[in-house]
This record gives sequence, C-alpha cells and structure tokens, in this order.
Amino acid sequence: MAKNAPPPGTGDIFPEEINSWLYLEQAARKVFSLYGFGEIRTPIFEFTEVFQRGLGNETEVVQKEMYTFEDRGGRSLTLRPEGTAGVMRALSGTEAMNGVETRVFYMGPMFRGERPAAGRRRQFHQVGVENAGKVSPGLDAECIAMLLHFLEEAGITGSNLMLNTRGVPEDRKDAENALREHFAPHIDQMCEDCRTRLQRNVWRILDCKQECCQKFIDAAPDAASLFGQDSRDYFNRVCDILTAQNVPFRVEPRLVRGLDYYVHTVFELTHPALGGQNAIAGGGRYQLLTPGSTKPIQGVGFAAGMERLLIVRDALNVQAPPVATPKVFLLSLGERAMAYQEVLAAKLRHQGISCFLEYEAKSMKSQMRTADRIKAEYVLILGDNELDRGIGQLKDMKDGSQKEVNLDSIESCFQ
Ligand code: HAM
Repeated sequence: MAKNAPPPGTGDIFPEEINSWLYLEQAARKVFSLYGFGEIRTPIFEFTEVFQRGLGNETEVVQKEMYTFEDRGGRSLTLRPEGTAGVMRALSGTEAMNGVETRVFYMGPMFRGERPAAGRRRQFHQVGVENAGKVSPGLDAECIAMLLHFLEEAGITGSNLMLNTRGVPEDRKDAENALREHFAPHIDQMCEDCRTRLQRNVWRILDCKQECCQKFIDAAPDAASLFGQDSRDYFNRVCDILTAQNVPFRVEPRLVRGLDYYVHTVFELTHPALGGQNAIAGGGRYQLLTPGSTKPIQGVGFAAGMERLLIVRDALNVQAPPVATPKVFLLSLGERAMAYQEVLAAKLRHQGISCFLEYEAKSMKSQMRTADRIKAEYVLILGDNELDRGIGQLKDMKDGSQKEVNLDSIESCFQ
C-alpha cells in the first residue's frame, strides 16, 4: 500500500476526475427536477436506532457492516450505510407522515464495512430519490422510469432491469412456510449463514451468493404466487404501466433485496460492464419505522452507486467534458513585471477570465514549462521593456504565434 494511501475501501477524487462526477450529478439534478423532486441533505451520521429500526435488525447491513461509535454523551451513532432511513427520519416530522406526497433526492457518501473489491467500497457515493407519503403502483412505475431516464441522460446504455414483488407483511406467512419446507431438507448442504437464515429470515436465503446454495435457491417455489390477490394486482399494475411505456424488464422471483423495509415492488438494475458487483442501482416501495414512531412512513425510491455508474461510463467510453484549463498564464520577467501581473490577475479573475501566475522569480523557460503543464491557452509575457511601452507579448499556445498587445485593453484579447 502506498504511504499516502487512504484507508482500504476509500479513495481520493482528484480535480482531473471530478468532471465525470459533476456530469453525473448534473444529469441527476436535471432529470429529477423534471419529475418535481427537490434536493435534501441529511447528516452523514444518525442515531444508530434510525438504521436498526429502519433497515431491520436482521439485515446483513445492520448485523455486519455498520460503522458505529459512541458520542461523548454515550449515545450510539452510525455513519449512514444508505440514504433512505435518514431521509425518512427527517420527513417523519413533515406532512409526508399524513399522506402528503413529498419528493426528494440526495447525493453523497455512504459507509459500509464490506470487503473492498472492484466496485465495492467502504465509503461509496449514492445518488438517490425518495417519494414519500402516498402508495400507488403509478408512483412505483414512475420511479423506475425516472431511474432509466437518469441513466439515459448520464450516457449509460445496456443495463438490465429486474423486478419483483415483496407483497406486504400480512401476505408473507404462506410463502415463508413454503420456502422453509423447500429448504429444510437440504439445509445441511447449504452455507452456514443460510442455516441461521432458515429460522430467522428465510427470505435472505434467496439473496445468498454462495455457490453451494444456488441449486436449492434456483428450485425454490415462486413466493409471489402465494401472496394475496391485492398484492398480485398491485404488482401486475406496475408491470402493465412499464410495458405501456416500452420499458424493458424481467420479473425475477428471487429478487428480495437486502433491506427489510421493502413491500410490494422491488427492482434492481445491473450492467454487464461490472464484474461480480453488477448492481448499479436498486430500490423499491417501503414501509419504514423511524425512532419514536409506531406508524411506518410509506415511500418508494432508489439509489444508484456513483462509483459503479462511473465504471460503466468508462467501459462504454462515454467522454466526460474536458477539465477547464486556465485561459492565460501571466509570465513575469523581473520584480516590476511580477507586481504588475499580480494586480492584473486579480482584475482578470474578477472579470471571469481564469489565469495563473507564479509568485517566485523563475526563468522564462521554467515558466513556459509550467504554462504548458497546466495547458494554458495563452501566455502573457511581461518584462521591464514591455512595461515601459505599455504592451505585452501574447503567445497563443495552440499555434505558437506571438503578437504585441496593448495592456490597457488586455481583457478584450480573451473575450
Ligand atoms: P442498495 O441496493 O443497498 O439500496 O444500494 C443501492 C446501490 O448503491 C447499489 O445498487 C450499488 O450500486 C451501490 N452500492 C451499495 N453498496 C456499495 C458498496 N459497498 N460500494 C459501492 N457501491 C455500493 C439502498 O441503499 C436503498 N437505500 C435504495 C432505496 C432507496 N430503496 C428505496 N429507496
């Protein structure tokens, strides 16, 4: 590991990479605002019970992956492993709790103590949306269509959409029994985690990625077919709306998602350009309990992993807009020239013209090298002789041509 490396599973984002990030963020802001979503910013850490109650104590994220610590008063705090629970904590104090539709989006870092791998980080970034307050298959379908619209705007093509229903808690008893009956005779041949899951949360087995469990998972009964009529109608309606909009999707009966708050529609978007970690986005409808409340807040939303979107964009060769380079490098030969250039730099920057200068006396050659390195468009060369005549030598770095320019109207050279 290099001496200056940050902790495993985290990374630095340098200025030359930032344009790709800004491009994604702008695409998100543009598309989400077309659908009436406004940006929300919530804390990066929350009281731990926000996630324990919100995501479910039995989930992998809560059991194994949270960064939890105590504040000075002994209260347990956790770095957010995802955005939904914190956003719902915030919205639980608003009209969304009384059924008023509330549309928000967010972007920022999330933290999960997972084993780092390509596309799997301990600090990663999500862009996500939540539509809280109302329940309707139309909203679920709109949310999915908006995710695809966002990807289109971000230049990402070729992703695959999988859809399933989790029904509602009252639906699940028969399906759970059927799953338990199916797995019980084979459980000795399945992984250790699945043995615990069989009793504690049999749905999690469907999510297991271990090789030894796959053939039993593939043969599992289709749980959704055992849900009540209302839930099946709800899901069919979501599918019908998407079909009418020509949104391609595949119903995947094994898709349960890793968080316990989901009800009805769940979905995941994968992309073949990613290896093992192939989910670029996931989401669904949820009923989420916030601390101190007995009534769950309703919503539908998704989050996309920004690092993963960027990996896909690179694989698809989508070009980020070039990083802005300085318009002009102000080259000084001598102290008088440097004093002049310092004042000129302040003036040009206030006029919106980007410029760069060195504050140490350096040779012409050395300053030209810097101008080259930072890819300045022009170099304005000033020495005592030029100052006395009120002119400068302006070199166009693209074609190497040089001409005398009047210092009094220098701004006009850069308009
Ligand atoms: P999630 O599926 O856990 O859902 O995460 C959403 C996306 O975040 C994933 O599809 C993936 O692209 C990215 N992601 C997750 N973990 C990592 C990681 N360790 N490294 C890199 N990227 C990662 C949620 O978080 C839900 N809150 C989504 C949601 C919003 N459901 C309803 N509303």
